Amino acid sequence: MSKQQLQQAVQEQPGYSTWLPFCQLLPKVELHAHLNGCVRASTIRELVHSQQLSSLSEADIERITSTGHRSLADCFVLFDAVHQLTTKHDTITRITREVIEDFAAEQTTYLELRTTPKDRPEHGISKRSYMAAVLAGIQQARQAQPAAGMLVKLLLSIDRRNDAAAAMDTVALAIKLMPAGVVGVDLSGNPSVGSWATWLPALQHARQAGLKVTLHAAEVANYEETHAMLDFAPERLCHMCVLDEALQQRLWASNIPVELCLTSNVKTNSVPGYVDHHFKQFYAAGHPVVLCTDDSGVFGTTLSQEYAIAAASFGLEQQQLIELAARAVEYCFCSEQEKQKLRQQVLDFREAWQQQQQQQQQNVAPT
Ligand code: IMP
Ligand code: ZN
Repeated sequence: MSKQQLQQAVQEQPGYSTWLPFCQLLPKVELHAHLNGCVRASTIRELVHSQQLSSLSEADIERITSTGHRSLADCFVLFDAVHQLTTKHDTITRITREVIEDFAAEQTTYLELRTTPKDRPEHGISKRSYMAAVLAGIQQARQAQPAAGMLVKLLLSIDRRNDAAAAMDTVALAIKLMPAGVVGVDLSGNPSVGSWATWLPALQHARQAGLKVTLHAAEVANYEETHAMLDFAPERLCHMCVLDEALQQRLWASNIPVELCLTSNVKTNSVPGYVDHHFKQFYAAGHPVVLCTDDSGVFGTTLSQEYAIAAASFGLEQQQLIELAARAVEYCFCSEQEKQKLRQQVLDFREAWQQQQQQQQQNVAPT
């Protein structure tokens, strides 16, 4: 069996589908979702066919909406293609609302959505108007089920293609929008582009202003940069796929929570397969981790699916999945009061689950 067949088998194995209904009911928090990576395939098709963009060929559309394996480099070509479709304020509002609704529909109680504010003068879009459109989408999603009760916060992403001034401008915008729900800043984009020193002043400024920081780190081998990132000590890290022994020890000693995105890493070949994913090592070492989707649209996954894959790949019990969901709440960038509400939702679920377990045991007990 090839590696690829093995990976597919994990998703198809009975264990995986048995886990899915439980994982769909589990109250979950999503801490790593890129807005333009989460656009529904149906929306992409509709946007292309509504002639909003005629420069994309059928092959391009197929490439965007297929959720198979692709290299990390190809992913960034793909993001640029998606960005060509989201060039109107109305569209940005719409995709924001849809992404929130999709997460809410699978019992996501809290969503930290991240996006890169974009200056696109050719389309009449500035970073500020882009963010106004995103906020309008959040507002619209709140007005009806399924998202009415879900808490949504924002992280503004600095793209690794940004120079120091552009990064600083994004941070200035993030600070301005803190009252509107921006809780942090992220560094993302093609890991082979740019250098850490460029964005460091902006990230330090964000921190001084009270924003939290999460960094895409060690997606590819770049030990020097990963050491510098650990020196900075962000509140969270993402991926951490390629570490040497020294970095692994430093990470574990730091206790910094890591956002782990199984399907994203498998589909970009950043790890050989689900069962080999470093989740297993981190979890066994007791390092804080949180399961996330990264780009649910591009990688054709959902948060429930990621929990189900973890259960099937690493032999987790229901009790351990509840524990994972409970611990993830502690890594959210929201206020303590907001966390309290999220904790309670997991506790209520745990209580109902325990009652159900007891009832099942009584039903099978010999009379
Ligand atoms: P946006 O920020 O809403 O436009 O979401 C898409 C962007 O997120 C991409 O252009 C990348 O900059 C970033 N992104 C999405 N997935 C990844 C990833 O796996 N690694 C690094 N950056 C990513
Ligand atoms: Zn990401």
